[in-house]
Amino acid sequence: MSNILETTLGPLVLKNPVMVASGTFGYGLEYSDVMDISVIGGISVKGISLAPRPGNPPPRMCETPSGMLNSIGLANVGFDVFVNDMMPRLRDAKATVIANAYGTSADEFAELCRKFDDVEGIAAIEVNISCPNVKSGGIHFGVSGKPAAEVTRAVRKATRLPVMVKLSPEANDIKDVARAIEDAGADSVSLINTFRGMSIDVNTRKPRLGVGFGGLSGPAIRPLAVRMVYEVARAVTIPVVGMGGITCLRDALEFFLAGASAIQVGTANFSNPMVAIEIIDALEKYCIEKNIRPSDLVGKVEMG
Ligand code: FUM
Repeated sequence: MSNILETTLGPLVLKNPVMVASGTFGYGLEYSDVMDISVIGGISVKGISLAPRPGNPPPRMCETPSGMLNSIGLANVGFDVFVNDMMPRLRDAKATVIANAYGTSADEFAELCRKFDDVEGIAAIEVNISCPNVKSGGIHFGVSGKPAAEVTRAVRKATRLPVMVKLSPEANDIKDVARAIEDAGADSVSLINTFRGMSIDVNTRKPRLGVGFGGLSGPAIRPLAVRMVYEVARAVTIPVVGMGGITCLRDALEFFLAGASAIQVGTANFSNPMVAIEIIDALEKYCIEKNIRPSDLVGKVEMG
C-alpha cells in the first residue's frame, strides 16, 4: 500500500486522518521550530475573524479533573495579519492548513470565506458555529438546525474550498443540526466543541475564569464525544471528524470505530505538543501490522 494513512473527507484529501484542533495549536507556526508540522494531517488554526479580536479578560484557562476550561473568546490576529504574515510561513513549512472561520452573521461568515477562497495554501475551511465563549455568533448558530443551515448555505455559496462545520455538543439535537448542515451543502462535520462549564475558587469564592464560565475539554468529555460521533455518523452521509479528549492511539481508534473518518487532537497538545505526531506514528504501525487502512475501522463498533 502506498500511503496507508491517506484519508478522504469528501473533496479534501489528507495525508493522514490525524489533525490538531483549533485553539490548541496556535497558528501552527509556534511549533515549527521543534517539529515538522507538515507531518500533521491538518492544522485547524486558531479561529480567524475578519478583524482582530482581543478576546475575553483573564484568567482564560484553568485545569479541571481530566480536562480544562477555556474562555479565550476567539482572540485572534484577524484575516489580514493571518494571510499576510502567517500563511507565507505556513506554506514554506508545507503545513496542511484548515482555516477555522468565525463570524457574527451569515453575511460576515460568507465575506470571510470568500476571502479565504483566494488564499493560496488553504486546504479547507472549518466553520466555527460552536464556540461557547462569545456574545454573538459561535454557539448561538450551532444550537439548532435553522441558523446552522443559514450560515452553512452562505459559506457554501462563497467558497469553492471544502467546507467542514464544527458542531456544538449543546445543540438541542446534534443529529438534526448535522442533517441541516449536510442539506445546506457542507462537505463534512467536525465534533465536538466544548461544553459550557464553571469552576469556583472556594477560598476567594470567585469563578476561576475571568468571565465566569468557559468551555470544558479534555478526557473528561471523551465518552460524551464518542457517543455523539456515533449518533451523528449514523444520521448523515458526509464524513464525520471526531474530537474530544483524544490523548493516544487507543482513544483515536475509539473515535474511528464510532464512525469518525478522521480525528482532531486538542487539549492533549498543551501537555505534549508532539502528541498528534505520536498518534500518527502509532496509527501507521497499527495499520501495517493489521494490514488495514484507517477507513476499514470507520463505524465498525460491534453493538452486540
Ligand atoms: O474561546 C475560544 O476562543 C474558543 C473557541 C472555540 O471553542 O471554538
